[in-house]
Amino acid sequence: MQSGLKDIESQIGEYKIGNKDELESFRLKFISRNGLVTKLFDDLKSASKEDKPLLGRQLNEIKKLAEEKFNSHKLRIEESELRREESDLTLPGRNFSPGSEHILIQTLNEFVRIFREIGFKVTDGPELEEEFYNFDALNTPEHHPARDMQDTFYVQHKADKKKKYVLRTHTSPVQIRTMLANKPPIRIICPGKVFRNETVTYKNYFMFHQVEGLYVDKNVSMRDLKGVLSHFVKKFYGENTKSRFIPTFFPFTEPSAQLDISCILCKGKGCKTCKNTGWLEVGGSGMVDPNVFKAVGYDPEVYSGYAFGLGIERIAMLKYGIKDIRTFYINDVRFLEQF
Ligand code: DAH
Repeated sequence: MQSGLKDIESQIGEYKIGNKDELESFRLKFISRNGLVTKLFDDLKSASKEDKPLLGRQLNEIKKLAEEKFNSHKLRIEESELRREESDLTLPGRNFSPGSEHILIQTLNEFVRIFREIGFKVTDGPELEEEFYNFDALNTPEHHPARDMQDTFYVQHKADKKKKYVLRTHTSPVQIRTMLANKPPIRIICPGKVFRNETVTYKNYFMFHQVEGLYVDKNVSMRDLKGVLSHFVKKFYGENTKSRFIPTFFPFTEPSAQLDISCILCKGKGCKTCKNTGWLEVGGSGMVDPNVFKAVGYDPEVYSGYAFGLGIERIAMLKYGIKDIRTFYINDVRFLEQF
């Protein structure tokens, strides 16, 4: 029996298991009910009393060897089958939805693309802004009545009591930051969030987005401003869209102009949206006020410039027929996946 054991041990060691069938043959040959190892256990019964303990121990070792070999090959074969399944190119593709850009971001990117094409650089600034940049340097000192135009969220800075902070009410403070950090010529746009303490309704929200524009150089005129804005309007709304300037007031521009476009819904004929005027207001603009230049240390006798601020939500609402500004922010997939 001793030699039988040695023989089976080497057979087990040499047996090649490459696939599932060979694994099954191995099992049948050695460890199944009629396998060689099982048979040896039967033979053990007829061994002499003295030999039994040693032979028994050896036989158990052999059984363990066979089972371990079986189990490790089983695992390897199963894993490689799984891997083969994973890379089966004939399987149908898995369905997954990657999500998409929010309609406001799409609109914003479209703005940016149009202005980039004509040489504007994109900048940004902080949403939590010092009062100085949001108001003072923009020719709107503390008791200026124009501060009432913008309902402001004031924020107290715990450590720095002297500086007063606000959630920026417009993107115009970026004009100041840019001019302080650079020399003319300057040609930038700045898209971003702004905040106002307003009652939330279908057309007002406490946060919205603007795109600010600023161009400063020598001999910049109102004509340049009108040219750039009407170029933008045509690119964004279509070649046939007209634009017009209406005189208005902003503390940081002189003269100032409201930008209107011919109503994109009724094409200027008059409808409910344009209140039968044929025109829609889309933003503010003007020539940079000399006081703003003085605040940043530019000589208003040497430099001139224009600036504008356009609201993104309003523009997207008009373009896509969105009736309620709140739908932008409530993350309803049924709304979002339409764009
Ligand atoms: N900051 C203004 C607002 O929020 C919009 C604006 C008007 C920006 C005229 C400008 C400008 O740069 O020149 O209502």
